[in-house]
Amino acid sequence: AFNLRNRSFLTLSDFNTREMEYMLDLAEDLKKAKYAGTEQKHLVGKNIALIFEKSSTRTRCAFEVGAKDQGAHVTYLGPSGSHIGKKESVKDTARVLGGMFDGIEYRGFSQRNVETLAEYSGVPVWNGLTDEDHPTQVLADFLTAHEVLKKPYQDIKFAFVGDGQDNVSNALMLGAAVMGMEYHVVTPAELNPTKEVLDKANEIAAKTGAKIVVSNDIKSGVKGMDVIYADVWVSMGEPDEMWKKRIELLQPYQVTKEVMEATENPNAIFEHCLPAFHNLDTDVAKDIEAKFGLTEMEVTDEVFEGPQSVVFREAENRMHTIKAVMVATLGD
Ligand code: CP
Ligand code: NVA
Repeated sequence: AFNLRNRSFLTLSDFNTREMEYMLDLAEDLKKAKYAGTEQKHLVGKNIALIFEKSSTRTRCAFEVGAKDQGAHVTYLGPSGSHIGKKESVKDTARVLGGMFDGIEYRGFSQRNVETLAEYSGVPVWNGLTDEDHPTQVLADFLTAHEVLKKPYQDIKFAFVGDGQDNVSNALMLGAAVMGMEYHVVTPAELNPTKEVLDKANEIAAKTGAKIVVSNDIKSGVKGMDVIYADVWVSMGEPDEMWKKRIELLQPYQVTKEVMEATENPNAIFEHCLPAFHNLDTDVAKDIEAKFGLTEMEVTDEVFEGPQSVVFREAENRMHTIKAVMVATLGD
């Protein structure tokens, strides 16, 4: 019989359709069981390390709550909480933590680091976001669309609107390819996906029947889509100097009511991995407003707060899907 025990979860292209659907179905089952109060614990006595070199609200809390629900113990190592990548190499840290923990989550900068952890720790390693990828996010995004649209995964038409080289866009594209979906990246030509990611997605799509489309035209790019997805225009770890250029390039790609209407699909939903840049009352936002006169970026407040938005269901689903990844790879 097939199982995912002891596998790491580094990028979605490491999994086939059946394996990815298994994790999504398991998440649905675990969610139902939690709601019904019948959840069984599969991670009793397991110790899990959570390494975060960048900040997080959802991913960290999803791992902590998911692990606790399943009977595991977590140790959180924040951006200044360990020697990793500073006084101690990733390779040495991997061998140290592998001797104490049963599973390791890593959020940081390069994809290479999460691969090194997996290679040298000897335990399952889960990618909690890198500059290039964000695979756990995609499970929540697909589960949410499946729940709300009530469609099989292969029939969901998904459009990412924004920076075509964004880590979440990369992850969604690979995930859509694995699941045999139609996936559009709607982005200015300057930010078209890299050849590396696009080639990988197309290679998988050739086997699964997925359709990957890169479109620089927002209207035709979103037409007929079921899900419109947005992410921030500048990601964690990118320099503040990026704002000017990205705003110039991406302002025409802001998700507005008109963009939602251009789907010509009254049932279309809006998704966002969050955090979202809309009506923020923070120092960063005040600085951006002073410099560029903008209070909304990738999505208007109207769409974010509107009836098509499913972003908070999506955020909750981060927990159910991350729990499923831990149970599938580490569960008894
Ligand atoms: N979507 C997401 O990964 O959120 P956090 O940065 O809060 O973990
Ligand atoms: N692209 C964003 C995603 C945050 C969940 C970032 O990397 O900051």
